[in-house]
Amino acid sequence: MAEAFTAAAQYFRAQEHENNLRKKTAGSIAKLERARQSLAGGVSSGLRRTARPFPLYFDHGTGPYITDVDGNTYVDYMLGWGPLILGHAPPAINAAVADVLQRGHTFGAQHDLEYEVAELLQQYIPCAERIAFANSGTEVVQVALRLARACTSRPRYLKFEGHYHGWDDSTLVSYHPTLEEIGQAHGAPVPVGTGQRANADAIVVEWNDSQAVEQAFREHGAEISAIICEPLLCNSGCIPADPGFLAFLRQITSTHGALLIFDEVITGLRLALGGAQQLYGVVPDLATFAKAIGGGMPLSALAGKKEYMDWIATGRVVHAGTLNGNPVVLAAAKATLQTLAADNGAAYNRMWSLGEMLRQGLQDRLRQKHIPVVTTGGGPVFQVLFQEKAPRTYRETLAADRSLYIDFAVAMLDEGVALLQDGRWYISAAHTMQEVERTLAATDRILQ
Ligand SMILES: Cc1ncc(COP(=O)(O)O)c(C=O)c1O
Repeated sequence: MAEAFTAAAQYFRAQEHENNLRKKTAGSIAKLERARQSLAGGVSSGLRRTARPFPLYFDHGTGPYITDVDGNTYVDYMLGWGPLILGHAPPAINAAVADVLQRGHTFGAQHDLEYEVAELLQQYIPCAERIAFANSGTEVVQVALRLARACTSRPRYLKFEGHYHGWDDSTLVSYHPTLEEIGQAHGAPVPVGTGQRANADAIVVEWNDSQAVEQAFREHGAEISAIICEPLLCNSGCIPADPGFLAFLRQITSTHGALLIFDEVITGLRLALGGAQQLYGVVPDLATFAKAIGGGMPLSALAGKKEYMDWIATGRVVHAGTLNGNPVVLAAAKATLQTLAADNGAAYNRMWSLGEMLRQGLQDRLRQKHIPVVTTGGGPVFQVLFQEKAPRTYRETLAADRSLYIDFAVAMLDEGVALLQDGRWYISAAHTMQEVERTLAATDRILQ
């Protein structure tokens, strides 16, 4: 296998592509240097800091394309890390936002778009008997966990290794630990950065390990308020739940009087209009949405069953936020939902079939060159991993050659295709067969 990876590294010629990129993107380099004198790390979110060869500066995006400040245009599969489900600057969102902008940006008070968008979400999302809006995924996860603690009078929650639920201290644990960190922690949650408060609330087990979940309930059942999970583990290899595993989580939480929370920040509106819960047919008690729900605007939502959401309705559980539910983001959400629902959800048929074509095409081409590769996930969001066997857990993704994948992503960037460097690919409703063909042709050039 090591030999196969060495051969692949020769195909990808990362150094040559990096040199080309440096020549083509002089404007980005200069702007990054300038930004580093004022912005911490020159970027606005830590995950963007490590992009290779360096974080690019972009000027504009249109549909499935993004253009940098040096005028290079790329087919975009980053899609702002997921929100741009309709692509860049979609006319439907632009028109809706332009219209509300004339009437004020925020009221800190009630307006029609709040219940109009909530009604649409109720219509599409199985668990959405009631909705509460906020601005980011991190915030709504916090409200969901608070609600679970309140409803059950229990202090702790169970999460899975490799799942990401935002950057608050309470959830930013055991996200991408090394095997050494896992070993040293002896089963305790592993914080991601320094300065985080010690976390005694999280109980962490491996994804798809039903025995570990059962054991956690045997040992700590009286303390567990909820299980939270990404129903498709998009943040660590797009790993699906084993058949029956989500139903098992539904059943064990119900049996023990705990809540089941689906973190649908990525899967929401992406896998289906009703999210992963619609696609997989398992209805959680609460679900969190962000990213695609705002079509690129900062909007998040907690959806849940009335009996739990009533704790918010009566003020016993606090849900607050100055900019919550402002007209600008909700206009974008309404346009996004209406566009995705049009023609009986035709956009989903397109995203699924293009995504599957693309992932199969990539996989076939790489395998033809004897590069060990697996692709996981589903059409609108999938993952390319340089390893032999499809992973079932986060730990199994550690077998992937990540630095080789980054070489591949750098080569693709030089060939006009912008990818997230963690191996995740997002498709939007604006992508067409033309972009898929362009992307596969770029792959062919790299592999020549
Ligand atoms: C599954 C999941 N939950 C929560 C979050 C946090 O969302 P936000 O970045 O909007 O705070 C993310 C962000 O990537 C996510 O992928």
